[in-house]
Amino acid sequence: MKISLIGITGKMGHHLAELIADAPDLTLIGGVTSSTNPQRGQKLYGVEISDVLAPAFMNADLLIDFSTPHTLTEHLEQAIYHKKPLVIGTTGLETSHFEALQAAATTIPLLQASNTSMGITILSNLVKIAARQLDLDYDIEIVETHHRQKRDAPSGTALSLGKAAALGRTLNFDEVKVMDRQGKRQAGDIGFAVMRGGSVFGEHTVRFLGDDDIIELSHTSLNRQLFAKGAIQAARWLINQKPGLYTMQDVFDRPLENRRL
Ligand SMILES: NC(=O)c1ccc[n+]([C@@H]2O[C@H](COP(=O)([O-])OP(=O)(O)OC[C@H]3O[C@@H](n4cnc5c(N)ncnc54)[C@H](OP(=O)(O)O)[C@@H]3O)[C@@H](O)[C@H]2O)c1
Repeated sequence: MKISLIGITGKMGHHLAELIADAPDLTLIGGVTSSTNPQRGQKLYGVEISDVLAPAFMNADLLIDFSTPHTLTEHLEQAIYHKKPLVIGTTGLETSHFEALQAAATTIPLLQASNTSMGITILSNLVKIAARQLDLDYDIEIVETHHRQKRDAPSGTALSLGKAAALGRTLNFDEVKVMDRQGKRQAGDIGFAVMRGGSVFGEHTVRFLGDDDIIELSHTSLNRQLFAKGAIQAARWLINQKPGLYTMQDVFDRPLENRRL
């Protein structure tokens, strides 16, 4: 499969390019960066880095995007025009981005995941189950820590865990999320606490705080390769799918007999 990377000059781009170079079934054929990046015009991982989208889309079988939310709409337009599947790992997406994803998914296969690790995909399932089974008097709070350079807060992963908890309780996430608490906690709130510092790859804990006990569900990422490996798994899966908007849940939900031991 021929892959182009959008955001190839970034931290995730680096790990993805290394994994593609090591995979006999994958070839890196294009790399896109921002219009101000000093590496434009240079060769990286065997491809010329450019800020022009069209050639990267035209020549690839599939694209992987770990860049910035600001240009997601342009990336979707190119993917639709060239009829190419796209894996989107970029976080910080807003309602308008999700609407654009829904619209694009009527014509091309798209997979959007704020966290491409299997661990977070499983954690999200566990959170949904716990939220469904625990009484409403268990208060749900989500705590996350990331490295000092992270741009969005709370993380896309924390928000998706919050959405899983709200889904478990059949509540509207937008009505119960509390991003910047001031004053007393309201019943039913799903609160977020954010820490930034050092080089932490990602720590997420969902706490269910009751009167008699506290249940905590946690995940710690030990490196960034974890996310790159998940994105590559997603790409291998997405290439065979019909148009639609998919998540990592779809990738990891395949039957047990299809899994390599
Ligand atoms: N889904 C997941 O599991 C997961 C895991 C880790 C990170 N992420 C997300 O993935 C994104 C990238 O993370 P990162 O750690 O790799 O960040 P990063 O190191 O800042 O890399 C982002 C790269 O994208 C480039 N870029 C900016 N605008 C672009 C555009 N319009 N087209 C193409 N490239 C562009 C940047 O270039 P300049 O420096 O020149 O702007 C930079 O090289 C973030 O949104 C992050 O939160 C997701």
